[in-house]
Amino acid sequence: MGIESSCDETALALVRDGKCIGQTLSSQVDVHALFGGVVPEIASREHGRAIAPLYDLLMRRCGVEPQDMDCIAVARGPGLLGSLLVGVAFAKGLALSSGKPLIGVNHLHAHILAAGLEEKISFPALALLVSGGHTHIYLVRSPLSFTLLGRSIDDAAGEALDKFGKMIGLPYPAGKYIDFFGASGQVVPNLFPYPYLDNDNLDFSFSGLKTAALNLLGKRTDLRFTLQDGNAASLAPVLPDGEAGKELASLCASYTNNIAVTLTEKMRRAIGHVGRGGINSVILAGGVAANSTVRGQLRVLCAEFELPFIVPAPALCTDNAAMIAYTGYLLRQRGLSHELDFAAIPRGQQVPDDYRLNLS
Ligand code: KG4
Ligand code: ZN
Repeated sequence: MGIESSCDETALALVRDGKCIGQTLSSQVDVHALFGGVVPEIASREHGRAIAPLYDLLMRRCGVEPQDMDCIAVARGPGLLGSLLVGVAFAKGLALSSGKPLIGVNHLHAHILAAGLEEKISFPALALLVSGGHTHIYLVRSPLSFTLLGRSIDDAAGEALDKFGKMIGLPYPAGKYIDFFGASGQVVPNLFPYPYLDNDNLDFSFSGLKTAALNLLGKRTDLRFTLQDGNAASLAPVLPDGEAGKELASLCASYTNNIAVTLTEKMRRAIGHVGRGGINSVILAGGVAANSTVRGQLRVLCAEFELPFIVPAPALCTDNAAMIAYTGYLLRQRGLSHELDFAAIPRGQQVPDDYRLNLS
């Protein structure tokens, strides 16, 4: 059993023999869209409301009884603390009542390992995790060995997309709309800067890109999407007619292109840093991995180095519980579990490797 509640998605999934056999998910996206971002208090309350019925539905749908489960895995962080606590408390209750082992999963590692639900990951893998909260490059030697090579020093790639979306009137989270509308737009290569490439490290910084967009849009108040009925929760942005629409689509394409070019260039440098011979595959993961431009550019890079490119289906890129159940399955195979008092870890803090070895 996998349980995910680290941000604004409550999700549960069952994995058997490394394959997902069922999942239930409740997204709070419409609730938070009204506020232009996730409101932590509301997120916790919504998780608390949704989690038990989703569990009940999943178990009935899959015909599984609590005693059939081998292990209960839960995302323990990093994430919104109040949200995580709902999932972790629920998982501890399940473990206590069923007597089954419990395992707290690193949400970021789970995003990367999710690819293994669809195809075999060949380690060592170079992984790029691009989500709403993180832009991380890891060298992954096994499901238990993650070495962080680079990270964003300010906004994450998804955050840079969501903030840009807000500037042009798109509902939160804007990434998928920017992807959709950008597909019909022309890339203007030097409209925006290519951020933080003028150095020799593997870190990212997207704040300059965001500021460039803010400056441009400050002068062009005509470049805004409208929402179908003026209500952000309807999630139906409309591209204006004529020249403004064309320009907006081109802005989406150009902004995304510069993020994709930056991510790809740093991955090229990471391959050089580790050495081509030390890498057997490249994994792209996290919500922004659903982006067609990012996927396309990294695919070309991998072809150039003759490296297998592994990217999960879009539904496995964004937050889900199959990735948590699968990671739990991999860790449990290695005899690992947690005590009932293990802690949830908030954003910005390191998730400890405090498993215990329990082969029973
Ligand atoms: O991994 P995720 O679901 O949640 C976090 O752990 O953060 O990632 C959410 C992020 C948001 O910033 C969202 O705008 C972005 O992923 N996203 C996309 C696309 N779909 C989701 N960004 C670009 N293109 C997409 N198709
Ligand atoms: Zn995530």
